[in-house]
Amino acid sequence: MSMASSEQVRALLKSHLSGDGEHFVSVALQIAASAARNGDGKLAKELRDLADRIKAQQQNAGSTKAVPITKPTGELAGLLSVFYPRTRFSEMVLSKETRKLLENVKLEYRATDRLQSHGLSPRRKLLLVGPPGCGKTMTASALAGELNLPLFNVQLHGLISKYMGETAAKLHLIFQAMTQTRGIYFFDEFDAIGAERGAGNDVGEIRRVLNSFLQFLEQEESDSLILAATNHIAMLDDALFRRFDDVIQYLPPTESQFKQLVQNRLAKFLGKHIGWKGLWKTAEGLSHAEICRACDDAAKSHVLQETESIDTEALNVALLHRQKKMDLKISSLDS
Ligand SMILES: Nc1ncnc2c1ncn2[C@@H]1O[C@H](COP(=O)(O)OP(=O)(O)OP(=O)(O)O)[C@@H](O)[C@H]1O
Ligand SMILES: [Mg+2]
Repeated sequence: MSMASSEQVRALLKSHLSGDGEHFVSVALQIAASAARNGDGKLAKELRDLADRIKAQQQNAGSTKAVPITKPTGELAGLLSVFYPRTRFSEMVLSKETRKLLENVKLEYRATDRLQSHGLSPRRKLLLVGPPGCGKTMTASALAGELNLPLFNVQLHGLISKYMGETAAKLHLIFQAMTQTRGIYFFDEFDAIGAERGAGNDVGEIRRVLNSFLQFLEQEESDSLILAATNHIAMLDDALFRRFDDVIQYLPPTESQFKQLVQNRLAKFLGKHIGWKGLWKTAEGLSHAEICRACDDAAKSHVLQETESIDTEALNVALLHRQKKMDLKISSLDS
């Protein structure tokens, strides 16, 4: 067990008193370093993590002071909309791997300075891939909530113009904004880049828009996070994968994730003995979003009909209803 010297404690208290946040963190890091020298790696790591968190807090406080309202103005107003989400990872039901990847993004982002001092950089450019309703858009909000950053949604319809030069100029504005205002920049429904032009568009044109995006992405060196979401992994090629630091995959819930999702959503409304096995037979294949809607349907019936609680049968009815909607969608695509 290593102990901070009285010198170090004095320096720590003094920097706190004088409100010198930077010095405070640097003394804390010195204490961590002596712990490491004394062979207490575990304590050293804990102290470093705490110092990183304090630093992140200071930076957030600083940035909100410097830019009280980061609302996009001028031409940017039509290209970006800003939100300050309060969503958290804990609200999401995810596979172990996906959760770990996301936690990793958060961890690295918080340790940006420490990584950079070793010539490393945190993961900042992420591609979210998966079928509808499994949490891609929610992830952008949750990351913003966890990192206490503003979420800038890129308005793709405002971005794509008939004229290639115009589209590139607008993309340039967005990438400039990333350097000026730290935040999460989210290209949702990224597959719409190019596709927006409608049936008449040619593949060459879609490629040019995409290529221009990739060029900006490659040159980009801000402190912002860039997220893009798409349903179609097939549409994406190697050139694209190479420019992102990580690809995060989303899948419809498994049986145990289904149960967790319903329990999260309905909490105390649920009756005591729920037949999960049978319900899964009805729910299998539904997305998180569809299951959440079924839960809300069941909750509304429960409230309006003043039933004692939501039982297996009521849940099954609600889930069946959502499955039927899915069938409708699939058969209309077939015809
Ligand atoms: N993994 C999840 N955990 C908990 N709730 C989820 C999850 N995924 C989706 N939901 C619920 O479904 C809603 C819609 O999900 P979201 O918009 O994130 O889907 P998406 O993957 O972006 O779909 P799309 O491809 O259609 O844009 C969320 O607001 C949330 O209520
Ligand atoms: Mg989405």
